Amino acid sequence: MSIAQGEYPVVEIRGATKTFNDGQVITFQDLNLTIEKNKIICIVGPSGCGKTTLLRCINGLAKLSKGEILFQGCKVSEPDPRMAMVFQQFGLFPWKTVKDNIAYPLKLRQVNRYEIESAVKKNIETVGLCGFEDSYPYQLSGGMQQRVGLARALATEPTLMLMDEPFAAVDAQTREVLQGELLNLIQQKERTMVFITHSIDEAIILGDKVAVMSKRPSNILELLDVEFEKPRDMKVVKGLPRFNELRVHIWDLLMSQKNIEEAQEIEHTK
Ligand SMILES: Nc1ncnc2c1ncn2[C@@H]1O[C@H](COP(=O)(O)OP(=O)(O)OP(=O)(O)O)[C@@H](O)[C@H]1O
Ligand SMILES: [Mg+2]
Repeated sequence: MSIAQGEYPVVEIRGATKTFNDGQVITFQDLNLTIEKNKIICIVGPSGCGKTTLLRCINGLAKLSKGEILFQGCKVSEPDPRMAMVFQQFGLFPWKTVKDNIAYPLKLRQVNRYEIESAVKKNIETVGLCGFEDSYPYQLSGGMQQRVGLARALATEPTLMLMDEPFAAVDAQTREVLQGELLNLIQQKERTMVFITHSIDEAIILGDKVAVMSKRPSNILELLDVEFEKPRDMKVVKGLPRFNELRVHIWDLLMSQKNIEEAQEIEHTK
């Protein structure tokens, strides 16, 4: 009997290990994580612990050294068009206009011209960039460029969105605006997303779960449920005592990793 795709978790990471330089650099080791449909998982962890590498392995851009990643029940072995990535540095083509940047992944898939036009229009509206269709990336602020990155990802109607610190390169105020917009977006329509961030607040506001990673060789130290009901209002959530409890807890977990690192450095220089 065949099993419908919907019965599988969107992603299952099983015993995943990734090493570089002939095994000299171990990023994550024996990592297990399940990402259920319509859930947002935020990942925080020390710099260099392997968050980006993990996202690249989920997407099929990089290969695991050990273990396996299943996407809707099938082993990931190459980049899958049902997953869309949004990068910290926007990753836009500087020589293409806003609308051509958004259209690009659809053109690659040979979607017909009318569907492309309608997807581009719809998603430009969604991210609030009407009037900038023919602008080039250099003519836009960082926040606007990331809106283009987001629209490009949304236009493909991906099963899974992979976001690698998408708001890290914009100023603090724009970041809050973008967080609020993304929160609305994920509340208007169910989405499945892995969202990497160094901001604990961002992780708690957006996530159904927050995975806290340890330092290298890394693993998931704790997978926390963020129980705030939806739709969430960013301001309200930030004012809740539980928000602060989670914040302090995650901060302590991350600091415990920093201490190990410092302790190891001290040990090394003895
Ligand atoms: N292609 C590569 N070749 C060799 N080493 C690599 C490669 N890609 C990543 N690494 C190493 O793997 C480790 C994890 O890198 P990664 O970029 O995944 O970390 P990260 O958690 O995303 O860090 P940050 O928070 O700073 O973005 C680092 O030590 C990095 O130097
Ligand atoms: Mg990274």
